[in-house]
Amino acid sequence: MIKSVLITGANAGLGKESARQLAQKSSIEKIYLGCRNPQKAKLAKQGLEELTARDIFEVLPIDVSNLTSVRKAVALLPEPVDALIMNAGGTGGKKFQKHTQDGVTQIFAVNLLGHAVLAEELIKAGKLQQVALYAGSEAARGVKEMGMKRPELKTSSVDEFVSICNGAFYADTKDATVPYGPLKYMAALWMSAMARQHSAIRFITMSPGATTGTEGFNTLSPVRQYLMKGMMQVMLWLGKVHRVEVGAQRYVDGLFNSAYQNGGFYASKQGLTGAVGEQGVLFKDINNESFQDNAYQAIQRFIK
Ligand SMILES: NC(=O)c1ccc[n+]([C@@H]2O[C@H](COP(=O)([O-])OP(=O)(O)OC[C@H]3O[C@@H](n4cnc5c(N)ncnc54)[C@H](OP(=O)(O)O)[C@@H]3O)[C@@H](O)[C@H]2O)c1
Repeated sequence: MIKSVLITGANAGLGKESARQLAQKSSIEKIYLGCRNPQKAKLAKQGLEELTARDIFEVLPIDVSNLTSVRKAVALLPEPVDALIMNAGGTGGKKFQKHTQDGVTQIFAVNLLGHAVLAEELIKAGKLQQVALYAGSEAARGVKEMGMKRPELKTSSVDEFVSICNGAFYADTKDATVPYGPLKYMAALWMSAMARQHSAIRFITMSPGATTGTEGFNTLSPVRQYLMKGMMQVMLWLGKVHRVEVGAQRYVDGLFNSAYQNGGFYASKQGLTGAVGEQGVLFKDINNESFQDNAYQAIQRFIK
């Protein structure tokens, strides 16, 4: 039974909404809100307590783009958790292509490197017990509706995955949606590799689907932001995207429904909303164990 959950990026959007939904479950006794901004974290905790009438939330300071902060958070976590939701992420801020001190792009650090270290360190410390869920994205298979191309790798070698980590894979771009698809693709492969290495824990990559009402586009350039938000609104009217409650529900289902299999990547079967399905059915390379291991090993090169 899942009694405690740690959620990264829990002060806004899908992270906060999933905390609210989890608190509706009587089995849940503790929710750690992993947040980088103390002020926003405090407000989110207060808001969640008011919304749910439950006093089960605790802030865990963590900046997933900074590995020192990630390791400190693991040390600070006062007890093992049953589940981890690796949700922090998105478009990586205004300087998404800038390298961090670990040599990866900011967008990669926020979405993947920090979570890789978090999951591995929690497991090493005996502080993760049942499920690890990663916020995947349909962008991993390309999103025609939003002009995002399907990531096309030539060799899927360790070196090619390293180029996704450090940004060399894509030409210099001002558009954060260009690196986003390849890194979410790589994250799904990394999760499958982790699933084979740690059989006692269920690893699920779950896309929340195209979700409005989050802050996800706020750091894009003003023009791109205007275009993306406008497009999302039109798509909401057309029923092609959904509200944050629906997206967060996918995380909760991923944690509690054992039909979601260890190592699987789940996202919308068609388009960006609606029924969820196993992505390996749609694109076979997601189940290629060599590619999974290469993605895993590329990440290890940046962990000191
Ligand atoms: N919305 C969608 O349509 C969609 C679709 C597929 C996948 N996803 C994925 O779902 C996840 C959540 O997206 P969202 O739309 O809910 O975004 P959001 O509203 O922008 O929320 C992102 C959360 O992550 C936090 N965060 C960002 N950088 C961080 C860092 N370095 N350390 C710790 N926390 C950090 C943010 O904190 P601050 O408030 O401090 O910035 C915020 O709490 C992302 O991984 C995204 O890629 C979203």
